[in-house]
Amino acid sequence: MKKLLISVSTLAFVTALIVAPSQQSRLAKAEDKPAKSSKSRQAEKPDQAAIKRARKIVNSLDNIFKQTIVLITDKYVHDESDFAAGSAAVLLFKNISESGDNKVRLIDATGEPYDPANVAKDKFEKTGLERLKSGAELYEQVVAMDGKPFLRTLTPVPVVMKKCVMCHPHYKDAKDGEPIGAISYTVPIE
Ligand code: HEC
Repeated sequence: MKKLLISVSTLAFVTALIVAPSQQSRLAKAEDKPAKSSKSRQAEKPDQAAIKRARKIVNSLDNIFKQTIVLITDKYVHDESDFAAGSAAVLLFKNISESGDNKVRLIDATGEPYDPANVAKDKFEKTGLERLKSGAELYEQVVAMDGKPFLRTLTPVPVVMKKCVMCHPHYKDAKDGEPIGAISYTVPIE
């Protein structure tokens, strides 16, 4: 019962942050003693080193995925009937998410997704898209799921090449560097 109460309080006090390591949210660990008052400030700090490791994993994955999307589009996609990097990414992310601990999604930020399934699904993704569209480089949050800590991160996808417009005509209206999509990550903090 104690454990249950603590994990509920853990969830309640998770705070959103935008690339501000100094403002990292606090995360009560399941083995922590219950806070004396109901304030999360009483809870122990999260393991900063573990959050850093999770952040590094997200960073590496993000770089690999984005380089791959650009490379596929550049070398293999010549007309609209070719298998798009977007389709490859959606399939790859689905398989990665189903086969391991890291969950990844490609989502639209324009309101006109190619596939209606590729949209922000929860509060984290919806708020994150707003922040990215207002210029944040990244949006992240430490969350607890089943008593375990995870780092959720949203990174922007801008119109990186003219070719993107071939299949997404409305991308031509995007301003330079404006995100038209985002990649959403959930990785375990361990
Ligand atoms: C050959 C056509 C084609 C090209 C070129 C293309 N895309 Fe896509 N894109 C698609 C298709 C098809 C999907 C839907 C994939 C799915 O859900 O299986 C998609 C999905 C996406 C999504 C997810 C949201 C949505 O609209 O469903 C984003 C973001 C995206 N593409 C960005 C890009 C970027 C950035 C580029 C340029 C590097 C690009 N696309 C080039 C066809 C294309």
